[in-house]
Amino acid sequence: MPKSRWALCGLKPKVPAVYTAEMLVDVTAEVIANTPLSSDYNVLALRAPAIAVAAAPGQFVMVKATTSHDPLLRRPFSVFEVLRDRAGTRVGISLLNKRIGPSTELLYAAQPGRPIVCLGPLGRPFTIVDPPTEAWMVAGGVGLAPFAMLAETLRARGVRTTLFYGARRAAELFYLDFFQELGVSLVLTTEDGSIGEAGRVVAPLDRHLAARDRHEPVMLYACGPEGMLAATATLAIRRGRPCQVSVERVMGCGTGGCYSCVVPMRGDNGAFHHVRACLAGPVLPGDQILWD
Ligand SMILES: Cc1cc2nc3c(=O)[nH]c(=O)nc-3n(C[C@H](O)[C@H](O)[C@H](O)COP(=O)(O)OP(=O)(O)OC[C@H]3O[C@@H](n4cnc5c(N)ncnc54)[C@H](O)[C@@H]3O)c2cc1C
Ligand code: FES
Repeated sequence: MPKSRWALCGLKPKVPAVYTAEMLVDVTAEVIANTPLSSDYNVLALRAPAIAVAAAPGQFVMVKATTSHDPLLRRPFSVFEVLRDRAGTRVGISLLNKRIGPSTELLYAAQPGRPIVCLGPLGRPFTIVDPPTEAWMVAGGVGLAPFAMLAETLRARGVRTTLFYGARRAAELFYLDFFQELGVSLVLTTEDGSIGEAGRVVAPLDRHLAARDRHEPVMLYACGPEGMLAATATLAIRRGRPCQVSVERVMGCGTGGCYSCVVPMRGDNGAFHHVRACLAGPVLPGDQILWD
């Protein structure tokens, strides 16, 4: 059994999140703004100071997009941005929403003033590195969502940060100016070749990893479709780099009660077990997930 990449960089998977009534904030957040990015994507700004104050990069909220019973269950969304007023006080959060079903359809159409119920922040956030370790974020599609806040946090610590970002076409790559203004280097790919390199984002990632001196520390952070996460985690193992992945699972409750979100994992001793992604994750060590 190879030594865990987390152990190699001095990090360890954390114990699952445990919530108490005092820690869980369930708020009715007013929509401040709804910014369409494309025919499928939008950014929803929500007034939710209590969640904004507590949120860390990689955490998520469980959102009820309607006051009716359809859809009945809340859906998980990464905290995209923390919104601040002019004095710098955290007043809200935004969500990067991709329309794929009933809840995301409602969030795509939500008008300012509308109440959206949010529970959070939930789950285990990313472990943040410090210089001289570099941060390489790997995003596929709506997997960009946890990286705006992560990039702000990393850059505030002076960490050199690169975003490997892949989408189907140029029109589905969002917030590039935002990342550039933070000083994040961009490596872009599109499946149709309309911008950046044609193909999948793991191809340039592999080349960059291969070209990097083994003694220069790099932490990988990945979020996106499961195939991309598996490929990134496999590359990281092959290149001897630690990799934190934010897994997307169907989540019925977000708080550990329904077991809809289990992920098969291998412990440091090789023993096989399942964890609930909403409590032990969504951020998990890529080299300990059983991807098949
Ligand atoms: C921790 C976490 C953070 C997330 N963050 C975001 C985010 O920031 N923005 C965003 O747009 N989406 C995000 N998602 C995904 C989002 O929660 C789901 O797409 C949600 O189910 C959509 O709800 P819906 O009612 O519109 O569609 P649903 O009816 O719930 O789903 C439509 C279809 O997608 C499938 N599906 C549902 N959830 C998932 C999933 N997790 N993975 C793969 N297939 C799924 C369903 O089986 C169904 O076929 C996140 C998921 C997780 C677990
Ligand atoms: S979503 Fe219910 S246990 Fe994880």
